[in-house]
Amino acid sequence: MPENQKKALQDPIFSILAEAADELSVDCFVIGGFVRDYLLQRGMPKDIDVVAVGSGIELAKSVASKLPGNPKISIFKNFGTAMIKHNDLELEFVGARKESYNRDSRKPVVENGSLEDDQKRRDFTINALAFSLCKRNFGELLDPFDGVQDLGKKIIRTPLEPGVTYSDDPLRMMRAIRFATQLGFTIELKSLQAITENKERIKIVSKERIVDELHKILQSEKPSIGFALLHKTGVLNYILPELMALEGIEEIEGQRHKDNFWHTLEVVDNISKTTENLWLRWAALLHDMGKAPTKKFHKKIGWTFHGHEFVGSKMVYTLFKRLRMPLNDKMKFVQKMVLMSSRPIVLSEDYATDSAVRRLIFDAGDFVDDLMTLCEADITTKNPRKQNTYKNNFKIVRQKIIEVEERDHIRNFQPPISGEEIMKAFNLKPSREIGLIKSAIKEAILEGEIPNEYNSAYRYMVAKGKQLGLKISENER
Ligand code: CTP
Repeated sequence: MPENQKKALQDPIFSILAEAADELSVDCFVIGGFVRDYLLQRGMPKDIDVVAVGSGIELAKSVASKLPGNPKISIFKNFGTAMIKHNDLELEFVGARKESYNRDSRKPVVENGSLEDDQKRRDFTINALAFSLCKRNFGELLDPFDGVQDLGKKIIRTPLEPGVTYSDDPLRMMRAIRFATQLGFTIELKSLQAITENKERIKIVSKERIVDELHKILQSEKPSIGFALLHKTGVLNYILPELMALEGIEEIEGQRHKDNFWHTLEVVDNISKTTENLWLRWAALLHDMGKAPTKKFHKKIGWTFHGHEFVGSKMVYTLFKRLRMPLNDKMKFVQKMVLMSSRPIVLSEDYATDSAVRRLIFDAGDFVDDLMTLCEADITTKNPRKQNTYKNNFKIVRQKIIEVEERDHIRNFQPPISGEEIMKAFNLKPSREIGLIKSAIKEAILEGEIPNEYNSAYRYMVAKGKQLGLKISENER
């Protein structure tokens, strides 16, 4: 056995698996992602898929009885699978099977089969690799479809005719694109054509699974690879039509606008160099989405996208809802980023006044740095002089944000005078005036008329109350 395979199976768990399989007289193999990632040296995988030529569930029970602490087994009888968590490892057991799928669902018709039957029904040659855990050939690599060669050539290829593999389970179309993005592999032409032909079948895949793959694409080093492939095969039209609508350049009377789809992909790649934050990457992907429905041509000023940030932020909700993504704080964060995505740009184009910076911090709150990161990623001009100017301008705005925040503490703005204090000061019952005074104090602070501190705010409150015809109460004097 080559040295590296020995190393892969060094963990004592593999001897336990081999012993249990031997006692039950079943052949057993570790297969799929573990083998692939091990051979690609992507670190020691934590998920171990085990296939038994026999009952996977029985094998799991026997393995569990041999492990210290007698870990719990989760059994999924309908699927004939079982799962054990052991230390930081997750062991998945399945019996080798032959499978074929019904055209209208992802539920397979399953029969018992040999290891090779099982390898054949897997998605890609690089995911069909197996290490034997049988005593007679422990550690041998079983590779009937030249997966190792494909790993070397960096190719995504299906063991069967691609049309069969993708039609059997259309999620695999997204998996192919996701692996190509994560690993920097090429999807072989026949496969790419089959994805294009089967694109419509993505409709039968659950939204949760689609989103899972989208997350993995977005978390890759260069997400544009995946989105360009989704676009090329036409799958994108079924999952994110809002992005497809951004494609294209129109020209009227010699005036053109940029292609906002390809621009968006550049922004996503840019931001992926500076942040791991998945939701900020989503914001980059969706930041210009409102440009398609707001696009207009005016004879005098050319192309405009007025209000696209607001429209885009509303579209975030519709998109998250359609994809069954949680409508929670993460969604609100993405909405906020889209809504505010042009604000720092306006600031950087002109001299950024302190009050404009204070308003930006007030509106963006804790997310002001994320917003700046998004705007910096939005610089995709190929003109080096312009690129430098924009970058420098954002640097100045960032510096100003630090200075203004240090002095005025706007980030988590708390009104220096509470509504109760205003009521007490003017002997008021809950009323409209309280809101008016509170908002006047806030405006005065943001405008820089008064510093953000109690005494100044109190004096301002008294003056504002007088203007409204209110009298300060006796015990406040
Ligand atoms: N598999 C498949 N078709 C699918 C999903 C999975 O054939 N639609 C097979 C592949 O052999 C895959 C294995 O099941 O290697 C395990 O699947 P999974 O854990 O989802 O993926 P991994 O390959 O382990 O990769 P990752 O963890 O990155 O998703």
